[in-house]
Amino acid sequence: MPPASSSVRKGAFITLEGGEGAGKTTQARHIAERLRARGIEAITTREPGGSPGAEILRDVLLSGKIKDLGAKAEAIIFSAARIDHIDHTIAPALAAGTWVVCDRFADSTRVYQGTFGGIEAEFLTLLERVTLNDLRPDLTLILDLPPEVGLARAAARRGPDVASDRFESEGILFHEALRQAYLDIAAAEPQRCVVVDAAQEEDEVAQAIWDVIASRLPAAAGPASAEQAGEAGEPEA
Ligand SMILES: Nc1ncnc2c1ncn2[C@@H]1O[C@H](COP(=O)(O)OP(=O)(O)O)[C@@H](O)[C@H]1O
Ligand SMILES: [Mg+2]
Repeated sequence: MPPASSSVRKGAFITLEGGEGAGKTTQARHIAERLRARGIEAITTREPGGSPGAEILRDVLLSGKIKDLGAKAEAIIFSAARIDHIDHTIAPALAAGTWVVCDRFADSTRVYQGTFGGIEAEFLTLLERVTLNDLRPDLTLILDLPPEVGLARAAARRGPDVASDRFESEGILFHEALRQAYLDIAAAEPQRCVVVDAAQEEDEVAQAIWDVIASRLPAAAGPASAEQAGEAGEPEA
């Protein structure tokens, strides 16, 4: 496992990134179930949100109500939510030895606010540094698929009567740019990031992800007696 970023950190921190409908939420659940089946305590959480304070900001951020404040302000509010999420959910869980599987994290700000807002990289780098305070994911899974496929999945999930959110409703070129921006991060940080083909069937994606986790984070194999528990394990309360 890569070195822990903080002396009190004992659990591993896995983040899932990718466009709308890529399967982040679905796969976060699969990962946590597989970890628990091996006797490893794991929680799933998400951004924006993941703590009571950050969930309040989530509603504001996804409604588009603060879009007019500009991309920098939006990035700062995402970061404020992230600080609350780290302080109240992620860091305490990691310190207790619980693995944290997070649906979106700092790369989403780099990609969405960087791509959409055209914010200079230096601003986002500095903002990320003060926000994360050295808390880096041990592993980031970038779920990659053509944006049309992801947006169609997201629309089907939402149903016809619910409006798309602030980012989902951006045009296809925006989503193409997001995809490329994620691939650029993966290429720049291969020690942290792995790209997964998310256009496969759900179970195939889950297996591909598990293979990555098992090779990158060997502690995920759990106790020596753990056999291939597959998806059978029920999540603990
Ligand atoms: N590999 C897959 N193939 C087809 N549909 C999928 C797959 N993974 C997830 N889905 C479905 O697509 C929709 C979006 O998945 P979700 O996990 O919510 O994506 P995200 O969190 O990345 O936006 C959901 O309805 C989900 O059931
Ligand atoms: Mg989701």
